[in-house]
Amino acid sequence: MLRLGDIAPNFKAKTSNGEIDFYDYLGDSWGVLFSHPADYTPVCTTELGRTASLKPEFDKRNVKVMALSVDSVESHKGWINDINETQNTEVNFPIIADEDKSISEAYGMLHPNASATLTVRSLFIIAPDKTVKLIITYPASTGRNFQEILRVIDSLQLTAYHSVATPADWKDGEDVVVSPAIKTEDIPAKFPKGHKVIKPYLRTTPQPNK
Ligand code: BEZ
Repeated sequence: MLRLGDIAPNFKAKTSNGEIDFYDYLGDSWGVLFSHPADYTPVCTTELGRTASLKPEFDKRNVKVMALSVDSVESHKGWINDINETQNTEVNFPIIADEDKSISEAYGMLHPNASATLTVRSLFIIAPDKTVKLIITYPASTGRNFQEILRVIDSLQLTAYHSVATPADWKDGEDVVVSPAIKTEDIPAKFPKGHKVIKPYLRTTPQPNK
């Protein structure tokens, strides 16, 4: 079972965009890999449509997206026409056809007590060094919130590039939390926009990249 900090396993897969090596596809980008239970189902149709519409947001953050289900490439291709038609978009990322379930197994996307045959709604955020940074699992009946996925990517990138963390319910543009690894006396040099010491362990600063 994959855990945070583990290296995301590489794989070669048949996809709606042809055969793809996952690491080659990601290159130096961040990645989102997500599974859905089945093609031609209502919630999945809305999820993949929403993901396609958010491409400019993923691009802005240097994120490549890939979806997965255990259905075939032919099924994916037919369904993509429906997604494009009904969700007013153009699916612009590959969908893996994991018919032998090898990738689903490697990523723990099969939860046999939820479904004997179909993947659940798993989602992984993968950093450029291929470490797994986020794992979420939703049931088939609940579509994921892709604004929340973008929010987590923003938070992870702030941590990676600016040594800050984000507090509960943080939104882009709000104050962030200085990493506990930074000594209070070192804060002014590192965060020249200012800071507040609310407790010795709770220091905030304006979002550094705004
Ligand atoms: C859906 O995407 O709507 C769905 C898929 C599998 C089970 C239930 C709902």
